[in-house]
Amino acid sequence: MEGLDIENKQQPNSLNLRPGLEGVPVAQSSICDIDGEKGDLKYRGYSISELAEKSSFLETTFLLIWGELPTSKQLKEFESQIQMHRRLSFRVRDMMKCFPESGHPMDALQSSAASLGLFYSRRAIDDPKYIYDAVVRLIAKIPTMVAAFQLIRKGQDPIQPRDDLPYSANFLYMLTEKEPDPIAARVLDRCLILHAEHSLNASTFSARVTASTLTDPYAVIASAVGTLAGPLHGGANEDVIKMLEKIKSPDRASSFLDQAIKNKEKIMGFGHREYKVKDPRANLLQSFAEELFARFGKDEMYDVAQAVEQAATPKLGPKGIYPNVDFYSGLVYRKLGIPKDLFTPIFAISRVSGWLAHWREQLSANRIYRPTQIYTGKHNRTWEPLEERSSITKN
Ligand code: CMC
Repeated sequence: MEGLDIENKQQPNSLNLRPGLEGVPVAQSSICDIDGEKGDLKYRGYSISELAEKSSFLETTFLLIWGELPTSKQLKEFESQIQMHRRLSFRVRDMMKCFPESGHPMDALQSSAASLGLFYSRRAIDDPKYIYDAVVRLIAKIPTMVAAFQLIRKGQDPIQPRDDLPYSANFLYMLTEKEPDPIAARVLDRCLILHAEHSLNASTFSARVTASTLTDPYAVIASAVGTLAGPLHGGANEDVIKMLEKIKSPDRASSFLDQAIKNKEKIMGFGHREYKVKDPRANLLQSFAEELFARFGKDEMYDVAQAVEQAATPKLGPKGIYPNVDFYSGLVYRKLGIPKDLFTPIFAISRVSGWLAHWREQLSANRIYRPTQIYTGKHNRTWEPLEERSSITKN
């Protein structure tokens, strides 16, 4: 066939392919700073360990999106606006009732988040009030959507948020229909702080690409939710627990790792494009898990996780592969009584704040993303009539 002899034509040398855009700066950002060699993470210049100890999730969200910690008046106003916008329209709830109950909660969340664009479609993205309202709506409603789908798929009606409960306590209440223990609610709030932002990871990049087209913020968040869902990204927290359940006991950890490494399988919850040491969030989440075990009793899977980490250190450590944020978060959520397939939606509840911070930042100096490619296909082919074609190649 014509054209085959000139396929894979050389491209100009100036085009250096960088798969996964590794090391390619595509934006300037003042939101979050990662030191992958030291294992240090800061939001707007504040260390995450200090934020997780002293701040609330909503205070951290304000910091990420507007660049400064709120005054007490600003925080009160922000919290009360969020509290007022937690409810979902009956139309959204009815739409969610039509979702298949066997569907993954991340897919339900992506669809529900996108549906908000139908209700608030004005794209006044240069109007600070529009931006503030969109931020409030998304931060307020995303947890309600996650909790609503959880009850709907069990055949129940979603319950209304409780105005007297703070953000994380209210989420646990909507999910379990019980007022949570204050320690459990505080631990969840601290988890949300730790997951809120992490520079240009895949979902945040997705959010910025979508934002760069000047579409509405609901489409920005929906595209980011879809990207977060994959097992190489936010979906890994669910897979870690599945892996620990498969390993079953600490004495099987080492042989499991040997087999996985031999088969060139990825160990879920290990490795990171940015960190070459243990992820600082993994250390903090491990301490939160221990705090919960001290209060509510131990989880036997924790011993398995520790055995995996111990066995993995000599095998994967020399390649800079250590536990990441997803390795211990599932153990925390499990102890809070949260089902496995809600771990990634909880990651999304938190990361909405980082995505929105990047949405604002992208709009402040926007240029539509339009990278290039290196074409490797065929050239100058001649169209052949159907009866003259000898074979069909399917990709
Ligand atoms: N287990 C075993 N080997 C690994 C792992 C792992 N978890 N991660 C990386 N490697 C190896 C990989 O096989 C490759 O080896 P070689 O050079 O011999 O071919 C080398 O390390 C480089 O791997 P890579 O996949 O090219 O590295 P990356 O920077 O593209 O990947 C990653 C980063 C997070 C996608 C990867 O480490 C991974 O797939 N980890 C497991 C999934 C996971 O835990 N994801 C959560 C990431 S953190 C939170 C988030 O982003 O949501």
